[in-house]
Amino acid sequence: MIVTFRLNGEQVNARVAGPASLLDVLRDELGMYGPKEACSQGECGSCSIVLDGEVVCSCLVLAADAEGSEVTTVEGVSQGGLNAIQEAMLREGAVQCGFCTPGIVVAASKLFETHPRPTRIEIKEALAGNICRCTGYGAIIRALESVAGGEA
Ligand code: FES
Ligand code: FES
Repeated sequence: MIVTFRLNGEQVNARVAGPASLLDVLRDELGMYGPKEACSQGECGSCSIVLDGEVVCSCLVLAADAEGSEVTTVEGVSQGGLNAIQEAMLREGAVQCGFCTPGIVVAASKLFETHPRPTRIEIKEALAGNICRCTGYGAIIRALESVAGGEA
């Protein structure tokens, strides 16, 4: 079947086979390699995207259900360069591996879109679904607090 939705502001038509996940279609049909497949079970957040205004695990979404939706991947969170969150993460050395970082950027970008001055608790809550087993999250939280404090 063909599924039509908006991806990072552009309308796309994707070929979808049966029960394919939105993650598989984004990567394999549409060339969006930012969302990563790690756990495939909705546990790690490496496949995070924004679907109709909510951060979701794209490994758990049926691609067929994206018909008519608005989808944003990490490729679409900034237009023409890095956004303030990405800049702050670079500055603080908060960039982890290519699996966890895209999902963290998506979740954080969505948080700041709706809460430009989040508290530390709100930052932690927004990242609760993004697992990195290699960090204490200190640099990530410092980076996001610097954006919240207007330093970025
Ligand atoms: S790959 Fe989707 S949550 Fe881990
Ligand atoms: S999972 Fe990405 S650095 Fe730990």
